[in-house]
Amino acid sequence: MTRKKIVAGNWKMNKNLFEGKQLVSDILESGLELRDDQEVIIAPPFTSLELAASQLKDSKNIFLAAQNCHQEASGAYTGEISAEMLKGLGVRYVILGHSERRQYFGEGDALLAQKTDIVLKNGMKVIFCCGEPLQIREAGTQNTYIQTQIEQGLFHLTEAEFKNIVIAYEPIWAIGTGLTASDEQAQEMHAHIRSLVAAKYGDAIAEATSILYGGSCKPSNAAGLFSCPDVDGGLIGGAALVAQDFVGIIKAR
Ligand code: PGA
Repeated sequence: MTRKKIVAGNWKMNKNLFEGKQLVSDILESGLELRDDQEVIIAPPFTSLELAASQLKDSKNIFLAAQNCHQEASGAYTGEISAEMLKGLGVRYVILGHSERRQYFGEGDALLAQKTDIVLKNGMKVIFCCGEPLQIREAGTQNTYIQTQIEQGLFHLTEAEFKNIVIAYEPIWAIGTGLTASDEQAQEMHAHIRSLVAAKYGDAIAEATSILYGGSCKPSNAAGLFSCPDVDGGLIGGAALVAQDFVGIIKAR
């Protein structure tokens, strides 16, 4: 069984053009040597994608992601960015369903299903985020909560389409809070997610699907999380803004 081991850095709304250029240079100059089954993904703001693409063009297994895109192909949607525009910049992945998009921009499962479709139609892959808020975790109903997000956002896809999905489990109570899910909590949820994929698409596709953990992941806790059998890497926020920390996490993978 081979599935990609992935560390993705989500810069969110941080780094201007010059700062972003420096961060990408620092990562490239850190002497990373990635194995064939390893991928690093960098998700800067839209404004840095073109420059980052030119910086990354000769690097092996380091890819660009966008943090969002619009669900329609084109048209009168002032301020929005289409999947086709991203594709044209050399973007390989689009992050969809991040809890900040769900919470602050009201993105729900039906919209995310539409966004997923347009990204796949444009030949890119999706990093689909799911995650429960603290009250749900405290009530112990996180498994059904995550099941609904995944079923409604992704399970309309065909098997062929689903092969282009990476799932990121990001418990909301762990994002930017310094509270990390324990290795056991992460493993338990990742195994649950994989079992949902297996029930829908079969064991082979489930075994090949990369499931990333996100939420206060840092160099000091990455090795423990990544050693869990169903944790295939991480989606990193704060620690992806500092080259040394991001590289430290990649080396833990
Ligand atoms: P964090 O963010 O690493 O800063 O907790 C993770 C994310 O939101 O992707």
